[in-house]
Amino acid sequence: MTYIGAATSRVDGLAKVTGAAKYAAEIRPAGLAHGAVITSTIARGQLKRIDVSEALKVKGVLDVLTHLNRPEMSADDQSYKDDVAPDGSPFRPLYDDRILFDGQPIALVVAETLEVAQYAASLVQVEYDRGPHITDVHRRMKEAPALEPTDATGADAYAPPNPRGAAEKAFAAADVRHQGEYHVPIEHHNPIELFASTAIFEGNGKLTIYDKTQGVQNVQRYVSRVLKMKPEDVRIMSPFMGGGFGSGLRPQYQVILAGLAALALKRSVRVVLTRQQMYGLGYRPAMVQRIELGAKADGTLEAVMHDAVTVTSQYERFYRQETGWSGLLYRCDNAKYAHRIAPLDLVTSCDMRAPSAATGVYALECAMDELAVALGIDPLELRLKCYSDRDQHNGKPYSSKNLRECYHQGAEAFGWGKRNPEPRSMRDGSDLVGWGMATGVWEALQVPIAVRIVLTSNGHAEVSCATSDIGTGTYTIMAQVTADMLGLPLENITVKLGDSTLPQSPVEGGSWIAASVANGIATTADAVRRELLGLASKMPDSPLAGVVLEEVKLADGKIVSQHDPARGISIADAMRHGGVDRIEQEKATRFAKDETQAHNVHSAVFAEVKIDEELGIIRVTRVVSAVAAGRILNPKTASSQILGGVVWGIGMALHEETLIDHGFGRVMNANIAEYHVPVNADIHDIKVIFVDEPDQSINRLGIKGLGEIGIVGVAAAIANAVYHATGTRVRDLPITLDKLDRP
Ligand code: MOS
Repeated sequence: MTYIGAATSRVDGLAKVTGAAKYAAEIRPAGLAHGAVITSTIARGQLKRIDVSEALKVKGVLDVLTHLNRPEMSADDQSYKDDVAPDGSPFRPLYDDRILFDGQPIALVVAETLEVAQYAASLVQVEYDRGPHITDVHRRMKEAPALEPTDATGADAYAPPNPRGAAEKAFAAADVRHQGEYHVPIEHHNPIELFASTAIFEGNGKLTIYDKTQGVQNVQRYVSRVLKMKPEDVRIMSPFMGGGFGSGLRPQYQVILAGLAALALKRSVRVVLTRQQMYGLGYRPAMVQRIELGAKADGTLEAVMHDAVTVTSQYERFYRQETGWSGLLYRCDNAKYAHRIAPLDLVTSCDMRAPSAATGVYALECAMDELAVALGIDPLELRLKCYSDRDQHNGKPYSSKNLRECYHQGAEAFGWGKRNPEPRSMRDGSDLVGWGMATGVWEALQVPIAVRIVLTSNGHAEVSCATSDIGTGTYTIMAQVTADMLGLPLENITVKLGDSTLPQSPVEGGSWIAASVANGIATTADAVRRELLGLASKMPDSPLAGVVLEEVKLADGKIVSQHDPARGISIADAMRHGGVDRIEQEKATRFAKDETQAHNVHSAVFAEVKIDEELGIIRVTRVVSAVAAGRILNPKTASSQILGGVVWGIGMALHEETLIDHGFGRVMNANIAEYHVPVNADIHDIKVIFVDEPDQSINRLGIKGLGEIGIVGVAAAIANAVYHATGTRVRDLPITLDKLDRP
């Protein structure tokens, strides 16, 4: 194969850097009107009065939509349940007078220009009946209901796993014990692109909406149900996306607002959220977790217990299997979990890159470091001591797991062997130097998907699927795989995606699209090859007469025998003789549920921090992330995914925290000046290693996903490095300088 495995630059790179790639807020239909959203300033209660009279007087204002005058919307919960909605009664934008969270949209001012809409929005007067609210998880710890545990076949895949062994007894009997409580605050996604929708009023009752989303078909179903439109009358487009990270898995409210306004005004309408309004969307749930680990003196792990409280809204129950990672990763006979979810007067929490693992594994991997210290064993040695070749929940062997090699290659590249285990023992001038490490783990999932290929006799092919490219490089890997499967040059491949009318795809998330769509392309390419062989073998004196499908491949623009390269015909000749100028095939691919093996991706993360001893300023000067994620389709885009994940892990460790004023129930730092994310000056040396991990059985191409593994374990490695540098154990993210003891 020529392209699979090659470090290929993004096929959409030129369009992106030249501005030719148009995002949802850049589409300019004729007669476009602009919406400005007004959001609630209370966390709970009722709208008493909305006075829009002054706003309507402003020249250029077309309308102000509220729950009182908007077009009809669906009245049942089911209509609002998108493909990835959690249990509960989903929020309905502009539906009624109930206020469920601060930042809730309550009105949309629509005007000829954005500036007029925004000005008029400032003139709208709102009165509320304020209700009591609770936004502080610490005030909800007691009432937070516990989730029932499940086995692997349980209906609720996100409930904590069933316990195994007798964890409390084993913990009590252990030679060495560690208990710790770890805190992760609410964090927001902060993609560069704001949520935006441009609804094009097609004039025949149809809407085409350019929307920022990770799942065009999910949004298409949602919008058509909520707005009570025929499914065929709604088309959702999202050809480019400026970052999603999970915030675009569920439809966001601006798509409904834009649709409502377009229907009300019979005009095209664009609605773009402000950066501040982006903090009224979902977020990574805050997590309060308690980890207990017990071990024999030699490091054999005897007990793992993980209790967690995560936060959700009052109207939906969002959670993931936050605690299960702890019992999965290491060999241990006794494990026990408890997961409670605290309903708060906030918008529902949601998926954010490696949801549950980023937070759950953070706590586990800090606790493992603390256990290693208590045991007097090197933290890497302890991981190797507890290494498991089986999924500890169910005893299944992995289809592939090369985490051991991640540890070895990562440690080697980092120089871990030169570490002095004593805290505060390593220095660089006035800086304390700390080295820490952690393990990362994520799932290797694959989902049903359909792919269409249209091959024309000039040797060009168009490959299409309704998946998104959320910035991960899906366009590029689709082009690479198609080129290899059809034996054509990369530049002869056109990729279409992000259009709800294309062949079926679920949302792009969970790191499942690369494996799914690549294998989907392979399936469809088989059908193309079959059709070509049919044409080629019918040619007079065909060199491929009598050759079976399994024997031929497509390469260099030809269909040829794998055994005898002399037996081949060019694609163009075969099609010309067959009298066709295009071959079109569309195939759905389903992945058989493998009951015999477990599928995960892994990483070993090593971090160096340098901390100014007097000021407490922390710099993450080096990170090595060694990743085992099956066959790497494109080392260039794959490295970018891991780099991005590591940068985010640095943010999680040191910077990110959504701060809520619990008196008002409102986010205080709803902007990226005060919500800190790493900037260029915070990022130093990051090295990404992909270890070999051949996988014969996970799927035909041996591919796992890697969009999310990059963040997992990074915050723990840094927290552990901070301990090693300073001797202070901070169990409360982010690790800001005020939390460090200083002389
Ligand atoms: Mo990812 S959090 O599944 O977009």
